[in-house]
Amino acid sequence: MIRGAPVGKRFQHCTFENFDVEPSNREAFEACRRVAEEGKHGIMLWGKNGVGKTHLLVALMKEYDRLHSYIPASTQLPENMVDIPSASELIANASESAGEIDDIPSLSRSEIEKSAHVEYWPLLDLVSVLRSDIAHGSQVTSTRCRECDLLVLDDFGSERATDFVLEELERIVDWRYRALMPTAVATNLPDSASVIKKYGSRALSRWIGSCYDVVVGGEDRRTSSERPQLD
Ligand SMILES: Nc1ncnc2c1ncn2[C@@H]1O[C@H](COP(=O)(O)OP(=O)(O)OP(=O)(O)O)[C@@H](O)[C@H]1O
Ligand SMILES: [Mg+2]
Repeated sequence: MIRGAPVGKRFQHCTFENFDVEPSNREAFEACRRVAEEGKHGIMLWGKNGVGKTHLLVALMKEYDRLHSYIPASTQLPENMVDIPSASELIANASESAGEIDDIPSLSRSEIEKSAHVEYWPLLDLVSVLRSDIAHGSQVTSTRCRECDLLVLDDFGSERATDFVLEELERIVDWRYRALMPTAVATNLPDSASVIKKYGSRALSRWIGSCYDVVVGGEDRRTSSERPQLD
């Protein structure tokens, strides 16, 4: 389940399959696939405008969601299949009929079902929603960002680093850093020194130090292939 800000029509189609891999972006592509598969480490994508950072983030979160969710295809069995009880159901039934133990815990299909929780936020949107939450005495977005399985922050560094922004970001990333929960980030800032300069924060630099760190190189695709042509 992907929540947060809408990804938007322009990026809805983005997957790893339709990302053109070139020498300049191969490392970033492979690192993003790894993050989606492992579900353990975060990633920091550095790169100029239009090189495919948002494309990779969208592909990463779709893949993460697919790999880390378990939703049974159907609760209805096809006619030619027999519903075989699970081991826990067999044990529970056997014990019940023997009259020994009344309530052996057993998991139903719906309890086994797991939906990964991914939050996607371009920084400007996140800051605006966090402000609005605070004004309404709510912590709901901040809590979702702290506790989700994968947090995806796009356009990191595009917002003004006010005290409010710094405090909120620090709280979110420090929590996730301590809980070993992955965060994937894309930024136009040139390097970690410029992040630390902008935010001046120890928590942010520690967190960045714990992520995979890759540069997405290549051409600005917006000017090379996306621009509409006049006949
Ligand atoms: N390697 C690629 N293969 C296929 N499409 C790509 C590739 N790189 C970029 N694109 C497409 O080019 C457009 C611009 O890419 P994207 O928005 O991901 O760049 P960005 O690095 O996030 O830029 P910005 O820093 O301005 O946000 C998107 O439509 C994206 O799908
Ligand atoms: Mg982008």
